[in-house]
Amino acid sequence: MKLTDIIKDVLVKQDAVMHPRPYYNHSVSFKNTVSSEERAEMLERVGLNVFFFPSAMITGCDLLSDSGVTSMTDEQWAALHKGDEAYGSNRGYYLLKDRVREIFGEGFFNDPGEGMPNAFLFHQGRACENALFTHLGKTGKALLIPSNGHFDTTQANIMANRITPVNLFSPALTSGRPDEMFKGDIDITELKKLLGSSHEHMPLVYLTITNNTGGGQPVSMKNIEEVAQLVHHYGIPLFFDACRFAENAWFIKHHEPGYDKKSIKAIVTKIFSFADGFTISFKKDGLVNMGGGMFFKNDGLFVKKFPRMPENILDHQILTEGHPTYGGMSGRDIMALYIGLHTVMREDYLTYRIRQVRDFGDAMHAQGLPVLTPIGGHAVYLDVNKFFDGTAMKPDGFGGIGLCAVLLAAYGHRACELGYFTFGQYDQEKKEEIFPRVNFVRFAVPRLRYEKQDLDAVVASLVSLHESRGKIPPVEVTYGRELALRHFKARFRFKK
Ligand code: F0G
Repeated sequence: MKLTDIIKDVLVKQDAVMHPRPYYNHSVSFKNTVSSEERAEMLERVGLNVFFFPSAMITGCDLLSDSGVTSMTDEQWAALHKGDEAYGSNRGYYLLKDRVREIFGEGFFNDPGEGMPNAFLFHQGRACENALFTHLGKTGKALLIPSNGHFDTTQANIMANRITPVNLFSPALTSGRPDEMFKGDIDITELKKLLGSSHEHMPLVYLTITNNTGGGQPVSMKNIEEVAQLVHHYGIPLFFDACRFAENAWFIKHHEPGYDKKSIKAIVTKIFSFADGFTISFKKDGLVNMGGGMFFKNDGLFVKKFPRMPENILDHQILTEGHPTYGGMSGRDIMALYIGLHTVMREDYLTYRIRQVRDFGDAMHAQGLPVLTPIGGHAVYLDVNKFFDGTAMKPDGFGGIGLCAVLLAAYGHRACELGYFTFGQYDQEKKEEIFPRVNFVRFAVPRLRYEKQDLDAVVASLVSLHESRGKIPPVEVTYGRELALRHFKARFRFKK
């Protein structure tokens, strides 16, 4: 009997078999031995702000962010050596140009020195946002920028330029229906209303794919298409915040009718066919530790509406980052990105990646931990209010901050509050907190870094913490309550 026939019979049960990772460890880093008492003392020293906690003291999983913390592949490490640090027109720049064209579309990267400058490299995502909104803000008009959910730095950059950010989260996000997919969509009904009343105030509409602030949930092709048609009808450009574009494409392939036979590449091309421009932090789906970019479509609405913008951004880039052919990136970073953008499009990589995050979240869910479902692309979001159900925790006790502090001190895992403290505001006149709609602790999973065993340990720690949640006291803010971007800077202590 032929072996190919034998395996056909055997492989019937393939789905029941655990999937191995599509990669193996190339190099590893040992952690330090640190006791929970040492971590607790350190956390008190840094005012319970996990951002200031030394990563060298983390003995569990560092899930503070999925940004810039990817373990790079052997190919990327090798490519670093090919980095060309020429001041003008380094070798990697041309390779990256071809890669960007191949993935996002020809029109997003003109040849350097020829045609309109439309591809701008920055050191990270927020630097692109800063450039874009600085120049949009200079138009002097009362502007507003709607989105399916602005990321915190995006929102802050918009506001810093006296533009009003508007978050039109999908009603599905808070519907409580666990199986409803594409909770990252923009609320089309609300967008239509806003366009009807205020379209002349919108320089662009922004879609964040996937929707980080909205639970890391994906955005459907249907929504992208509808938004593009709507805003283009009003002559408004569509922009993407495209940090997690490949993960978003995977969700479309596997969960949106009509896309299961399409390749990730074909889906990405279609997504970007609707965009007039995009900003991107390459620290996510670029699979690199540093880098960002802003791209305008050659004949898109954005450059038609703002013909001076390419020159303005070019000048901004030269003033603040570097020559346009490297921008804010070193030649070696560009080479790592050139490889990273190729790897991120691998279906085996993406399937493993999304499954890892999903299994992590499902394991929490199965243990009765209140997580946002379905699980998003890069992180698991724990509902703080539900976590503290049945305890005396009040909204201004900032349970999410306390939870993160105890989790880190006791078990060595670092997560981050994205909820009442991070997105809330202190009204100095009324002397009270204004709470946002969502109150999460986010467990962001770095790419290619942790194994199942590591994430299982986080679940086990949380289960144990959930059982003793009544013992986590509220915190009080000792510094920074009234500051903008306060979560990065504030300090706290547990109330007696
Ligand atoms: N847009 C989104 C959707 C993001 O998630 C981030 C960063 C940025 C823009 C800014 O990019 O960090 O390169 O300046 N998100 C990280 C996070 C920090 O942890 O979610 P950046």
